[in-house]
Amino acid sequence: MRILVIGGTRFVGRHFVEQAVERGHDVTVFHRGRTGADLFPDLDHRMGDRDTDLSTLAEGEWDATVDTCAYLPRQVHTLADALDGRGGHHLLVSSVSVYAAPDGPGIDEDAALAELHDPDVEEVTNETYGGLKVLCERAAVDRHGPDTLVVRPTFVVGPDDYTWRFPWWVQRIARGGTVPAPGPADAPAQVIDVRDLGAWMVRLLEDGRSGPFHAASPAPVFTWREQLEATVDAVGQDGTRLQWVTPAEVEAAGIEPGAFPLWAGDDPDVWLMAVDPARAFSTGLTPRPLGDTIRDTLAWTRTVTMPEGTGVSAAQERRLLGG
Ligand SMILES: NC(=O)c1ccc[n+]([C@@H]2O[C@H](COP(=O)([O-])OP(=O)(O)OC[C@H]3O[C@@H](n4cnc5c(N)ncnc54)[C@H](OP(=O)(O)O)[C@@H]3O)[C@@H](O)[C@H]2O)c1
Repeated sequence: MRILVIGGTRFVGRHFVEQAVERGHDVTVFHRGRTGADLFPDLDHRMGDRDTDLSTLAEGEWDATVDTCAYLPRQVHTLADALDGRGGHHLLVSSVSVYAAPDGPGIDEDAALAELHDPDVEEVTNETYGGLKVLCERAAVDRHGPDTLVVRPTFVVGPDDYTWRFPWWVQRIARGGTVPAPGPADAPAQVIDVRDLGAWMVRLLEDGRSGPFHAASPAPVFTWREQLEATVDAVGQDGTRLQWVTPAEVEAAGIEPGAFPLWAGDDPDVWLMAVDPARAFSTGLTPRPLGDTIRDTLAWTRTVTMPEGTGVSAAQERRLLGG
């Protein structure tokens, strides 16, 4: 297949491209050249900023287009205008954040979607991200038809995870000692390895699938405690232990919510971390064992430098644990 990837040089798109090339597909990438500009020297690179200039897409025809970086519905429309029907089967990368807060585990792809108070908002924040992705999905189906594929990942993890949310935990636990673990420990947790996501997205296109799919694992309910304990098992040295603390203790230590990556605290939206992956599994999403993802993530962290200020500092940990 000739596949056009909007993005394709950073994380989700990068691993999709790697898998698509490995499967023998002919891939074109469109991006600004800001991230991973030296990747994939043998591919056709069309340079441009999707917000201002899509003219490098004026030539060409593709069997499929994978849009990895649409955050606003107008970006979906301008891409559809530029491709003018030459993009083939469309796949939009969306998010599980599209749902209205579920009241329990196991929602499927037909669950109620979030609605924005102001549908014209253009600022992408934690509050507007999900609602804007809903509008992107609607715009994609409107412009590319009912065969449009929509992939809704949970937290994407693995090598090249520039968000450093999951890698921070892996690196911290690998350092050993007593690791503060903010509760509630039985909060749900899900992730998807970027390599499994990429391979499965290629397969969805090869199999001509359509409609929305969760990209998440494992099947619910998997807990935050199980995720952190799996990390201790995979990369913890002897003597590494988790010390559970409450959200009130985190606050009393002066640690702002959000400082612990991936931690939802008492967030009412926690059931977004317990979506039903059955539809994806039935179409070939095959998540590798979590321990493999954790070990490979640790190996990756040793090849790069974590951005300063990521996660909770040693001083904050001491304050929290009273050491
Ligand atoms: N990461 C997660 O945990 C997660 C979870 C759920 C859903 N998602 C969804 O997954 C998708 C991919 O996320 P990501 O974190 O891997 O990548 P991302 O940061 O959204 O996209 C990066 C790619 O898009 C290109 N790009 C960004 N802005 C562009 C622009 N204005 N014009 C042209 N190219 C542009 C980048 O290249 P240049 O910088 O060179 O332009 C790069 O190749 C997103 O749609 C996100 O909502 C991610």
